[in-house]
This record gives sequence, structure tokens and C-alpha cells, in this order.
Amino acid sequence: MKNKTVKVGRNDPCPCGSERKYKKCCLGRSTFKPKNLKALYAKKYKIKLKQPKDVEGIRQAGRLALDTLDLIESEIRPGITTDDINSVAHKFTLKNGAIPAPLNYRGFPKSVCVSVNEIICHGIPGERILQDGDIVNIDVTPILNGYYADASKTFFVGKPGSEAQKIVRVARNSLSRGISMVNPGNTIGDIGWVIQKYAESKGCSVVREFVGHGVGFDFHEPPQVPHFGRKGEGIKLVPGMVFTIEPMVNLGEKDLVILDDQWTAITKDRSLSAQFEQTILVTEQGFESLTPYDL
Ligand code: MF3
Ligand code: CO
Ligand code: CO
Repeated sequence: MKNKTVKVGRNDPCPCGSERKYKKCCLGRSTFKPKNLKALYAKKYKIKLKQPKDVEGIRQAGRLALDTLDLIESEIRPGITTDDINSVAHKFTLKNGAIPAPLNYRGFPKSVCVSVNEIICHGIPGERILQDGDIVNIDVTPILNGYYADASKTFFVGKPGSEAQKIVRVARNSLSRGISMVNPGNTIGDIGWVIQKYAESKGCSVVREFVGHGVGFDFHEPPQVPHFGRKGEGIKLVPGMVFTIEPMVNLGEKDLVILDDQWTAITKDRSLSAQFEQTILVTEQGFESLTPYDL
């Protein structure tokens, strides 16, 4: 493809985002060095960039999120209910001095989201019994010392069929590819673009209604991180940004239905849906996952 360069006029707004004229700002400089990125991103996008001490707090919450997922994984088998998973997660979170963010969040009644098969996300734990061959996404968000970390994985229950294996593999790779775009200078659009391109190339579809999000000081902060979109669009990534990437990928069509409980999102065509989520920090060199696990 031809490389297209856009010319910035002397009197145009500076591309560094300073809201000054290009000629009064970065023109002639070899690199863009915005004066006060933290203030700029706060003002322009309501994005709260994280300081090293904040990152450490989110990293600790992230470690607890991963430990919780590991514990749940060890308990998953045919015959347990989704509420059993909730109990395990709830108790473990409290035992570790943290609070489960989902509990009572905008009326959500449980401590963890448990989304089986055609449930895309926000499944409410209850009496549903896990069956051999199911896939189940567990999404945990502990608040530890005031810091939030958000992570999820999709597990197999018993022995998966070929459709289950496919959708879980594509969802996993979608997150991996999305994370690989996280680099200062790239944009939020680059992340969604690469995910959509990959998932659709495998004949799957990407959910539009739910997106990744800033996280750390709160459960859901700006910016929104769509898992679809166009290369080069959206906000420029800068060091100190912390957000989730959490593509929900369907085996069939992208459309969804929300159940009467106002939370549970299922695929309209009842096809399988899978999701993986990590909390990602933009660094000077690229990225660091604050909820790191192998993809
Ligand atoms: N953890 C979900 C996310 O990834 C949000 C769940 S909201 C809840 O953003 F209320 F259902 F917990
Ligand atoms: Co999230
Ligand atoms: Co989550």
C-alpha cells in the first residue's frame, strides 16, 4: 500500500495535541514533546494518566484478579452452578482485602460475571449448571487499595467440541493482536482495526455494543476502546494510559439481545461467543499488561 503523508500547515493545530498553532509548537522539532501531557489528556479527553505509584497499585490488583481466575479455573467442572463460581470469587476477593467491583455496580447483583456459551457478557451467576462441552467466560474486577484491575478468560468445561475450540482460539488471538498494537504513537483505532480484521478473516464477528475502557481509579473511565474500527483513527496512545482490551467475538453474527434482567447479553443468532480481557498500560517502549497471562 502507498504510504500517505498528511501535510500540517503552519497555522494548523499542532498534531501533538497542545491546542497551539503548529508553528508556535512542534514545527522544526524532531519529536513532539507536549509540555504537560497529563493536563492535556485530562482536559481534552478526560483521560487520567497514571503515575508510577498508581501503576503499582493497579498491578497489585491485577495480580489478585489473575489469582482469582486461577482459583476459579481449578474449580470449573461439569455439575457446578454459575453461582458456585460467584461464591469462590467473592470469598477469595474479600480474603485478600479487596472488594469485588461488580457487586451492586449499577444494580449488578453479583461479584463476578459468568457468561456461558451464547452469553456474550454480563452473565449473572445463578442456578445454571455447567455442562460438559460448555465454554464459560469469567470476568473479575477486584478493587485493591482503591485501585481497579479488570481481566477475564474463557474456559472449557470438560471436553470442548470443534466450534468451542474455534471461537475460544479466535477470541484469544484477537486480544493478543489487539495488545500488540499498543505503542505510543499508535491510536486507539489501530487496536480495533487489527482485531476486527483478524476475527472477520476467520469468519467470526466482533460485538459493537461493548468496548474496552480506561480503568484504574474507577471501573470504567475514558477512553472507550472499540474492538472494531479504522487504522489511524482515534486518540493517540501515550505513556501512562491504562485501559482494557476485551474483544467479544461471536461464531455467527455480531448482533445481540439483552435479556429481561437488563444485564445478560446473548448472541441474537444464539451462536457461541468468547472473550478474553486484560488491563494494559502504555509505556515509553510499548506496553505492559497489568493482568498478564499467556495468550
Ligand atoms: N468487567 C466488565 C468489563 O469488562 C464489566 C462488568 S459490569 C458488571 O467491563 F456490572 F456486570 F459487573
Ligand atoms: Co472491562
Ligand atoms: Co471485565
